[in-house]
Parts: sequence; structure tokens; C-alpha cells
Amino acid sequence: MQRTAIYPGSFDPVTNGHIDIITRASKIFDKVVVGVLENGAKHPAFTFQERVNMLKVAVAGIPNVDIKSFSGLLVDFVKQEDSSVIIKGMRAVSDFEYEFQMALLNRKLAPDIETIFLATSDKYCFLSSSIVRDIAKHGGSLEDLVPDELIETICEKLGKS
Ligand code: PNS
Repeated sequence: MQRTAIYPGSFDPVTNGHIDIITRASKIFDKVVVGVLENGAKHPAFTFQERVNMLKVAVAGIPNVDIKSFSGLLVDFVKQEDSSVIIKGMRAVSDFEYEFQMALLNRKLAPDIETIFLATSDKYCFLSSSIVRDIAKHGGSLEDLVPDELIETICEKLGKS
């Protein structure tokens, strides 16, 4: 049986921290489906299509990773993909309360679906999409924070003109 894991998020934009988790999950599971939330409550900086396109560029070298969109409940998307595993990255204690709440809520909604947390690599502990957006807005360097191929795209959209 093929084991598929779902890695959900907003990816606004994708960072090297996300890529680290995707890469490591791809070595544990036969297939990793990155689920990009389409209609979140937030107002993303990047359009849905831009976020998907950036992810596609970033994971182009990993053969067993697919990028898909979802809206509605995460557990419904997980079932739709014939999976029973949600992958989440855990950066620090500050992530714990929110992620633990989501994991318990998702288990309440779908008891057969497990959330598995991968500890972020120490070099990405400080990294988040919002930090990337902030640095780009203020003209700072995104080197080592996002995939090299995306630096120009992100800076063009968010950077000082
Ligand atoms: O990258 P993010 O914004 O932290 O990702 C959050 C995400 C997409 C994982 C979360 O908002 C989510 O699962 N949304 C889908 C709606 C849902 O299932 N809500 C109930 C469980 S929290």
C-alpha cells in the first residue's frame, strides 16, 4: 500500500523551512501532497496561483511530491487524497499550543487521521513566511531563507520599488 502524507499550509510564500520539512517527509512517505489552502480567512500577500507556482518551482527536484489546493476542512482533503497522515513542522515551544489544538481538533473530526510533527532543523527555527515578507518589504536579503530561484519573484512583488 502506498503511504501518502499531507503537508498543509498557506505558503505565503514558501520558505526554506517548509522545503526542509517537505524534503524530510518525502524520505519517510511514498508520496507527499502539499495542500495549499485556497480560501483561508487571511488576506494573503501572494495570490493562490502565485503561491502554488512558487511551490512547484521549489519542489521541482523532489519526485514524490505533488502540489494541490484545498478549501474547507483539512481532514476532508486528507481523506480525498486517500491519506491518513498530516505532517506539521514544529519550530519551537511557541508553535506548540496552536499546533496541539489543531491536532486534537482534527482528531476529534477524524479519529483515523494522525498528525505527525517533524522538528524543524535548528537553522530554520526563526524562519516564517511573515518574517520573509517583512524582510522583503524592507529590502533585506532573502538568501538562505527561501529557495534561490524564488528570491527575485518575492522581492519584485513585495520589495521596495
Ligand atoms: O500555514 P498556515 O497558515 O499555518 O496553515 C494553516 C492550515 C492551512 C494548516 C489550517 O488553517 C487548516 O488546516 N485550515 C483548513 C480548515 C480546517 O480544517 N480547520 C479546522 C482544523 S484547524
